[in-house]
Amino acid sequence: MQGQFITLEGPEGGGKSTNLLWMESFLIEQGIDVVVTREPGGTEIGEAIRHILLNKDFGAMCDDTELLLMFAARAQHIQEKIKPALAERKWVISDRFTDATYAYQGGARGLDMARIAQIEQWVQQGFQPNLTFIFDLPVEIGMSRVLSRSQETGQVIDRFEQEKQAFFEKVRAAYLARANQSPARYKVLDASQPIDSVQQQIKTRLQGLFI
Ligand code: TMP
Repeated sequence: MQGQFITLEGPEGGGKSTNLLWMESFLIEQGIDVVVTREPGGTEIGEAIRHILLNKDFGAMCDDTELLLMFAARAQHIQEKIKPALAERKWVISDRFTDATYAYQGGARGLDMARIAQIEQWVQQGFQPNLTFIFDLPVEIGMSRVLSRSQETGQVIDRFEQEKQAFFEKVRAAYLARANQSPARYKVLDASQPIDSVQQQIKTRLQGLFI
């Protein structure tokens, strides 16, 4: 079986992390070798860049810096981790990838999508996920989940999570627009539904890749 590159996307609080762990166990049960990773991050260098990107003390970061750091971390991630794993026929599941750049830096920050596409081409040279799940849900539900998680765990709200509702509305709209433009690569999940129903849909879609 070929390695597959699967990405998980969506606004904050959609349950990506929980479902990612579930997806990993499901694939391992099927005898598949899985690598779980995330963006920004996934490599030692990428995680150092993530630390800069999420740090609330760096409120002065300009949008172009943010965009280029996302792609700098991604270049390292693709070369050091994703492509080598796929070459060994492993499956790679990444918590976010380039769709997040279109949604956050493009949709929400308002950077030119065509410019993002140019950098994407430069860094990825056509490399794309085989399948992308979008965990979609109303922004206010996602934001309240993030808030209660932070209160329960003491986890500090990061530079993105502190943005306002209007920002996340744009993120959500940009994700849905991308899924509409190329439906073959995306599976939009209603993340406000019970987890069993969401996971059943994920399972069906993953089984479609078992060829
Ligand atoms: P996470 O909270 O899902 O781990 O993602 C970290 C944050 O980084 C999240 O708020 C979305 C943001 N992000 C971007 O703005 N652009 C990107 O390209 C990526 C990968 C993440």
